[in-house]
Amino acid sequence: MKKLASAFLASAMAVSLVGCGGGGQAPVAEQPKGQEQKPAAEAPKEQIVIKFSHVTAPESVKGKAAQKFADLVAEKTGGQVKVEVYPSSQLYGDKDELDALVAGNVHMIAPSVTKMVKLDPRWQYVDMPFLFQDRAHAIKFFESDVAKSLLQGDALVSNDILGLVFWENGFKNFTNNKKPLVTPADFNGLKFRSQAGKVLEAQFKAVGAGSATIPFGETYAALQQGTVDGQENTFDNMHTQKYQEVQKYMTVSNHGRLDYAVFVNKPFWEGMPEDVRAKVEEALKESTTYELELAEGQNQKAYEELKASGKLEVTELTDEQRAELEKAFAKVYEEFTQTITPELIDGIKALK
Ligand code: LMR
Repeated sequence: MKKLASAFLASAMAVSLVGCGGGGQAPVAEQPKGQEQKPAAEAPKEQIVIKFSHVTAPESVKGKAAQKFADLVAEKTGGQVKVEVYPSSQLYGDKDELDALVAGNVHMIAPSVTKMVKLDPRWQYVDMPFLFQDRAHAIKFFESDVAKSLLQGDALVSNDILGLVFWENGFKNFTNNKKPLVTPADFNGLKFRSQAGKVLEAQFKAVGAGSATIPFGETYAALQQGTVDGQENTFDNMHTQKYQEVQKYMTVSNHGRLDYAVFVNKPFWEGMPEDVRAKVEEALKESTTYELELAEGQNQKAYEELKASGKLEVTELTDEQRAELEKAFAKVYEEFTQTITPELIDGIKALK
């Protein structure tokens, strides 16, 4: 599979002048041999290729939205811009996709925002336990000035990255292989896969559990082989990764969010002709609307399907049990509010 992907990539790169080094020019496809001498007036418009890399399955919420964006771009630009979507970590896993964006080897990514911790620790706002009350709160945040200040943060801009919009996934829940997780004490001694960063590490530590950062593309195998006992994710990510095949217990806790932002390589983006970029931005706006309409329903459906699989023993925490967990996780705020900044945390709380 990897070999196939590399072969495809090599040929895709061969027809593109794009991207390596991330210079300020939008990539164009090479003209076929024999057509180089055509007078400028007759020359076909050069095709711009946008490489969009992500780690989830094509049928996940993010996978469908990325494909929608590609389709809309093709339609709006009459094929002048082509978005090549590379799902399922086939091009870069989540350890490398950010570096690839900075280097200009891909032009667009939509990581779970916590993975931006490499550049700016404030993105771990998303991991603060029980920070978002409900979906409406998260959506309100996406549209807020505090969210915009993150998208345009200095650390991003100085790395040639622009954040454009937020995309939603949903609330996280736990699965594991050892026992039903009902009280904070149940987590004691278990080891969980985490996405990235110190905040998630501290969250698990607060209930006596260990954690290991494991790329998304390697998590199924880590659960199967027992490298870790459990993990936390949205229903849709669990379902599209088939975690029910390798996990026994699921706890519905809705204790934290997993959301995305769409980032582009800035010189590449700004190197597109303005009229073309306007059409691509229109496509992004429409695919964002589509994504936000899709996420909640698809997560609910995934939950129903996980339950119907009969493979997981499901515990839905009561309000009292959630409150107990929230109390146990409160330590994380003592430790990380300064890093994430009180402005950001209080700004998010004020949006409730
Ligand atoms: C994860 O690593 O669990 C998620 O960030 C994957 C994703 O992109 O939704």
